[in-house]
Amino acid sequence: MDIKGKTVMVTGANGGIGGALVRALLGEGVAKVYAAARSTDTVADLVQGGDGRVVALQLDVTQSASVRGAAEQCRDVDLVMNNAGINRCVGFMGSSAMEDARLEMEVNYFGTLAMCREFAPVLASRGGGAIVNVCSIIGLVNLPVNGTYCASKAAGHSLLQGLRAELAPRGIRVIGVYPGPVDTKMTAGQEMPKATPDEVAAAILAGVEMGDEYIFPDPMSRHVHAMLEKDPRQVERDFGAMVGG
Ligand SMILES: NC(=O)c1ccc[n+]([C@@H]2O[C@H](COP(=O)([O-])OP(=O)(O)OC[C@H]3O[C@@H](n4cnc5c(N)ncnc54)[C@H](OP(=O)(O)O)[C@@H]3O)[C@@H](O)[C@H]2O)c1
Repeated sequence: MDIKGKTVMVTGANGGIGGALVRALLGEGVAKVYAAARSTDTVADLVQGGDGRVVALQLDVTQSASVRGAAEQCRDVDLVMNNAGINRCVGFMGSSAMEDARLEMEVNYFGTLAMCREFAPVLASRGGGAIVNVCSIIGLVNLPVNGTYCASKAAGHSLLQGLRAELAPRGIRVIGVYPGPVDTKMTAGQEMPKATPDEVAAAILAGVEMGDEYIFPDPMSRHVHAMLEKDPRQVERDFGAMVGG
């Protein structure tokens, strides 16, 4: 897909990767970006820096009326980037795991599903387009310290596989993004090598332009993906050994 001149929806636009995506899209010459956030105040800087091309949109992906309203309002979208997500950083045996797992499923899985269901007809009415779902490399192998989050991202991975087949006849491409650790609010306080949101956003747009279906946007995600291709059981054991305290 040639991104130049397109109209794009980015969810979680006030977050680390979301904000970087909006800025990178502007740099690629998009016609318009809907910067969707739960509070539009949080994307005021993007609107200000967007030379009239950034439109703030109130959106909570867990609220069906909010998602439906967004799809009704944004009839001119060519590319939907489902980036909103949460990570409660708990294992399955954590004291709050049931509640945290449900919250993560609500945002990461059901929220993304609702967005895809509401926006697919919008894209189809314009002759096709693309949906980019930001999954995670730990949606492909469970990292137990973030166990419930990984399960929600694994559900997201399965969602995009199924959607890819269902939406292809309507001319809609479904693209999965599988980042490793990225330096955003989500990983604040976690000491480990992290990619920058800007480098991840640039790699995502390059992958969309190239026609990739799977995008591994940083060195860690590419490394883990290569290991998963070679020996998935060994990666599971290695990640399982990182159980923590
Ligand atoms: N950072 C990483 O290491 C990493 C790695 C792999 C994948 N990812 C994925 O990348 C995506 C972006 O994360 P990030 O790293 O940029 O984290 P972030 O800075 O915390 O951004 C997360 C964004 O999601 C939004 N959000 C949360 N719940 C929402 C809801 N119910 N409705 C609408 N928006 C909601 C947040 O808005 P509020 O400010 O209103 O909460 C925020 O804008 C997520 O899907 C995440 O799982 C991140």
